[in-house]
Amino acid sequence: MKTQVAIIGAGPAGLMLGHLLRQADIDCVILERQSRAHVEGRIRAGVLERTTMDILDKLGINRRMHAEGLLHSGFCLADGGRLIHIDIAELTGKQVMIYGQTEVTRDLLDAAPDRGLEVLWEVEDVELHEITTETPYVTFVKGGESARLEAHFIAGCDGFHGPSRRSVPQRAGREFERVYPFGWLGMLAEVPPCRHELVYANHARGFALASMRSHSRSRYYIQVPIDERVEDWPDERVWDELSLRLGAEVAGNITRGPALEKSIAPLRSYVFEPMRHGSLFLAGDAAHIVPPTGAKGLNLAASDIVYLSDAMIGFFKRKDALGIETYSARALARVWKSERFSWSLTCLTHRFPDDSPFDRRMQVAELDYIASSPAAQLAIAENYVGLPL
Ligand code: APR
Ligand code: PHB
Repeated sequence: MKTQVAIIGAGPAGLMLGHLLRQADIDCVILERQSRAHVEGRIRAGVLERTTMDILDKLGINRRMHAEGLLHSGFCLADGGRLIHIDIAELTGKQVMIYGQTEVTRDLLDAAPDRGLEVLWEVEDVELHEITTETPYVTFVKGGESARLEAHFIAGCDGFHGPSRRSVPQRAGREFERVYPFGWLGMLAEVPPCRHELVYANHARGFALASMRSHSRSRYYIQVPIDERVEDWPDERVWDELSLRLGAEVAGNITRGPALEKSIAPLRSYVFEPMRHGSLFLAGDAAHIVPPTGAKGLNLAASDIVYLSDAMIGFFKRKDALGIETYSARALARVWKSERFSWSLTCLTHRFPDDSPFDRRMQVAELDYIASSPAAQLAIAENYVGLPL
């Protein structure tokens, strides 16, 4: 098989790239390890920056997002009963869209056939070859048959555990990582949200987040110890903990109900540099991970793909290699600023096991400062809505 761009991974990064390249009439094929049902069944975050919405608008894959998504103009930080409202629309002139990544993925997949975007599902043993030449190729097994896909470029959109980043020789790359000493227990329930906006709570017992998917479906999170098991958290225990951590005013409006989904995820900050090695380009979770506190994971994948699709379209359509040459530096400049924001908001709102009384006072002082300073609120708001590309 031959194509212009071999894309590994049918998550948000791979699917957005595939659509943008096909829209520019560039050949590409997506190789995905899992089944379509598995990919569509993933429950992830749900806050879209303007950058991400713009991609879906540009692709014309935006009807359901505008019909079912919820535009939000602010969110709250909670600290022991105090609610600090961050009015992102007033401060930045921008809003964010509450629309689950699950829905984004479903919309991109439903639109793939009309775009002529081919996804090969359940491919195994994907391996990258000759990635420092101009004739790289990918080998894989599909339905028991070995296959080879020759391409001009390979886009590694295969997430944190995929083969692409591992194909870069150790001497050619550098990792930066912070693993947090706790995880997030997430719960999805078909109950109305407790508040019209998201609430990020810092509490002595740990962090909690009240989010939503629609006016009838809520998404909640609580910080749990790193080795916690979801079996030890029956629904009622989660509801009780949320009520304690979110504070009386917010908790008073919580509607309880059975969990549709409940799982625990670890938190880490991670960046791999550079995001290009020869003919291989890394994008999304394949290159970087953020703690979910700032809801930046999907949005960073989107900004990577804006840079990468512009670069590849410039190369194939205008024989302009500037975007290709500058992709890694441009993408990383935005990645690091989002890493900083996600790390900072995590440190502000979570309880660290080795926190000293001084550390706690620093959190209280920072929350007091944010509560009293429009400048501090603007700094948070412009990061939350997404920094300019
Ligand atoms: N071969 C083919 N496909 C693979 C392989 C492999 N060896 N390994 C992983 N994949 C696929 C995964 O099955 C997944 O569908 O690559 C895809 C990677 O998708 P994501 O992990 O969703 O990463 P990305 O597209 O960068 O999107 C980042 O997704 O996981 C969330 O929190 C993350 O919001 C962030 C967003
Ligand atoms: C979610 O709704 O899943 C969500 C929202 C905001 C976050 C993280 C997750 O920061």
